[in-house]
Amino acid sequence: MKLKEKVIVITGAGSGIGRALSLEVLARGGYVAGIDINPDSLSKTRELAEANQEKFRSFTLDITDKEKTTALPLAVQEHFGKVDGLINNAGIIQRFVKVQELTDAEIHRVFDINFFSTLHLIRVFLPQLLERPESLIANVSSMGGFLPVPGQTIYGASKAAVKLLTEGLYAELKDTPVQVVSILPGAIDTKITENSGLERPKNADASRFKALDASKAAEIIVRGIEQNQLKILVGSDASMMDKLYRLAPKYAVDLIAKKMKSLLR
Ligand SMILES: NC(=O)c1ccc[n+]([C@@H]2O[C@H](COP(=O)([O-])OP(=O)(O)OC[C@H]3O[C@@H](n4cnc5c(N)ncnc54)[C@H](O)[C@@H]3O)[C@@H](O)[C@H]2O)c1
Repeated sequence: MKLKEKVIVITGAGSGIGRALSLEVLARGGYVAGIDINPDSLSKTRELAEANQEKFRSFTLDITDKEKTTALPLAVQEHFGKVDGLINNAGIIQRFVKVQELTDAEIHRVFDINFFSTLHLIRVFLPQLLERPESLIANVSSMGGFLPVPGQTIYGASKAAVKLLTEGLYAELKDTPVQVVSILPGAIDTKITENSGLERPKNADASRFKALDASKAAEIIVRGIEQNQLKILVGSDASMMDKLYRLAPKYAVDLIAKKMKSLLR
């Protein structure tokens, strides 16, 4: 779907990939309803939109707040007159520890934000999206959603759930105007650790893949959406590990486990 003149709802629009995606959609002539829990960061995204500021509307809310997200489709419709797309991008990571060391509350919070809020937003926006001549649901999963990273097992499981949800929706909505896109980024340079309320692990830089710029990631994602791809791998690490994982799964899992071992506290 071409994004010119389209109204796109983007969650997590106040930082990282979501901010870069917002600016990219605006640059291509679209309109953005930017959702984030952090009002200051949303204001900053709007400021960065420069000449396109009027085409960006902030909606400050916590996406786990079901009452507020249920009211969102009408609020966006009232402001822009229509909704053409939803990009579920907001997400958090978990503490860098083994599964057994996480509390139930931590596990539920990761799933509530990454999976259940994504699912709920899709369900509340779908009626409007089905009414459009063409529309979009794009969900940000992760390389960690098809390849396990030690110390991010619950995060990975939530992203694997997003990936399968997305592919299932693609199959279910094939004969409708709704284009469904699965986004699988590798390492992207953002503040996700800090925004998830966590300290950066000491060995973060040594063990991570070289992170891609968020604006570059947004360019790749938007190009993939406009080219109607189902699966958008973002970054050479994601592309390479996708191939390796399919070719030699155990080898790929062992390789990542070794590379990322130092992240574990
Ligand atoms: N950075 C990476 O290396 C990477 C890799 C693969 C996938 N991803 C995924 O990309 C997406 C964007 O991540 P990012 O790296 O840009 O992170 P980020 O922290 O820079 O941006 C995420 C934004 O989501 C917002 N947010 C978090 N919880 C929210 C909530 N409950 N309600 C509303 N807004 C909320 C944050 O305030 C923040 O502005 C996430 O889903 C993440 O899992 C990131």
